[in-house]
Amino acid sequence: MDFLELVKKRRSVRAYQNKSIPDRELSKILEAARLAPSGFNAQAYKIIVIKDEKSREKLGELAKQPYISKAPIILAAVNTKLDDKYSPLDIAIALDHIMLAAAELGIGTVFVGAYHNEEIRDFVGAPNTAEMVALMPLGYPADKEIAKKRKEISELISQEKF
Ligand SMILES: Cc1cc2nc3c(=O)[nH]c(=O)nc-3n(C[C@H](O)[C@H](O)[C@H](O)COP(=O)(O)O)c2cc1C
Repeated sequence: MDFLELVKKRRSVRAYQNKSIPDRELSKILEAARLAPSGFNAQAYKIIVIKDEKSREKLGELAKQPYISKAPIILAAVNTKLDDKYSPLDIAIALDHIMLAAAELGIGTVFVGAYHNEEIRDFVGAPNTAEMVALMPLGYPADKEIAKKRKEISELISQEKF
């Protein structure tokens, strides 16, 4: 698929079909994350793949966003190097790779900010020297999502100076 078409196709998806994601599709999605750039190539993060139904229920509760439990997979992205100012950015880039790779496969995602949520961090078994950055459900979309409005390019981009 043409890259810009893919970018346009990606939408936040918050309702999922009751259909599991084949491992080969999941592997492609995770490979897209692995190949993402990071500051000084530090790759100081961990992405945990959560499929267990009870764990998904609990994550929906802890994040106060119950719809995520209905996705067959939830990814939990953890920053493992809190003194590295780039690592939250690195994770965001890796998650964007994931969102785009998933969109290409017809799999929906949504970036769920779970910043500083110690309960989620403890639940996924991350050490207290780490920090949650995001949860990301993966699932086949149940609805057709409508494109959200974006600012005009002139509001976001300027030439030469601010
Ligand atoms: C850093 C970040 C945090 C977000 N956190 C949440 C969240 O906690 N819950 C949620 O439903 N959507 C969340 N979103 C999704 C945004 O609401 C969504 O990307 C935005 O409204 C644009 O819609 P679109 O993704 O369909 O284009 C988050 C997105 C980003 C990038």
